[in-house]
Amino acid sequence: MTDPLVGDHAEVDALFHSLWREFDRGGARGVFERLDYLWARLAVHVRAEHLHLFPALLAASAGRPGEGTDDAPAPGEVRAAVEHLREDHDFFMRELAGAVNAARELAAQDGPPDRERLLQIRGRASAVAERLVEHNRVEEEQVYLWPDALIARAELDTVRAGVRREIENLPPRFSERAPR
Ligand SMILES: [Fe+2]
Ligand SMILES: [Fe+2]
Repeated sequence: MTDPLVGDHAEVDALFHSLWREFDRGGARGVFERLDYLWARLAVHVRAEHLHLFPALLAASAGRPGEGTDDAPAPGEVRAAVEHLREDHDFFMRELAGAVNAARELAAQDGPPDRERLLQIRGRASAVAERLVEHNRVEEEQVYLWPDALIARAELDTVRAGVRREIENLPPRFSERAPR
């Protein structure tokens, strides 16, 4: 049910690699454009999980009291996992937004960019990339498997449609062309 989300993880991962290459080139404008796009892609992904996946999991598990099994977790386990993932999301969006703003300022300046400031921006982005690895692993190996165990088939379709709609809903300024 969560294929689009897994595919999105891989695409965001590729965008980080393109970002590192841009840092190596040393241009503030290119770094800003890639960071801005990365932020937008992660934002719609996070929104899809917040608006569709997490509420559906919480509601479905709340109606199933008990200890849980390997496939179908107990309500407390679902709540704890969702809370943890949300904290990660807050960190990702806060740090990336900070990095985007700093890169925008740097790109607006004349002359070659200040290397020290570029390194600071890279540090913020790599803290996000590092925490994202474990976050995505937990989602793919655990949380993304739960809908099939917990949620009725008819409702799964609604959740899936909501997720797809959300991750395709990028801000209009990105509809023309994505930086690569
Ligand atoms: Fe997530
Ligand atoms: Fe995710």
